[in-house]
Amino acid sequence: MTEEGLNIGKCHPEEIRQIALLEREAFTCPWTEEMFRQEALSPLSHMLVAKSGGRGIEQAVLGYLIFWLVGDEFHLHKIAVKRDLRRRGIASALLAKAFTYASQYHCRRATLEVRRSNVPALLFYDRFGFAVEGIRHGYYDDTGEDALILWADLPDSILRDQTCPHGGIQVA
Ligand SMILES: CC(C)(COP(=O)(O)OP(=O)(O)OC[C@H]1O[C@@H](n2cnc3c(N)ncnc32)[C@H](O)[C@@H]1OP(=O)(O)O)[C@@H](O)C(=O)NCCC(=O)NCCS
Repeated sequence: MTEEGLNIGKCHPEEIRQIALLEREAFTCPWTEEMFRQEALSPLSHMLVAKSGGRGIEQAVLGYLIFWLVGDEFHLHKIAVKRDLRRRGIASALLAKAFTYASQYHCRRATLEVRRSNVPALLFYDRFGFAVEGIRHGYYDDTGEDALILWADLPDSILRDQTCPHGGIQVA
């Protein structure tokens, strides 16, 4: 699937059930549907979904991303893609869209936490310039695993786009 074939926009309440199903497939300690509904009420929180560009059943949610804007910082809280659709650029398209949105609100730095053992995610974040800047030892209750704290500067290309009068993408 190409990025052009994806439709990325704000999450609508009727999509939260699908997100919760995807969450169960992607994480060992998943958020419940109710937790997503509470999250959607937070003024700090932004939820994006990736859907295919088609109609009907093709409009199923393929991936989602949740971030907070905290001052000039972008905090990535969740990102996941349907298991059988990974390595097709869906998470990249979600994160690029979120970065573009965040840069319109003068965010310059992005941060997240990730399990030390989550190699696919670490490789993914590396592609976006994230680097380890800290460790929370024994952070995850289920395994006692460490959380790595990653930071990245928002890519110059996205920040440059903001100086162009027609640049920047509004999240639909
Ligand atoms: C991490 C995750 C969101 C990546 O989603 P994705 O849509 O597969 O990512 P993309 O296709 O945009 O990958 C972009 C690049 O990241 C790297 N990457 C992503 N997944 C990878 C993997 N399993 N192995 C190696 N590199 C990987 C590659 O460089 C890839 O580019 P390439 O496919 O051209 O080589 C997905 O694996 C996922 O949902 N994991 C479960 C949930 C999770 O762990 N979320 C992160 C919690 S912090």
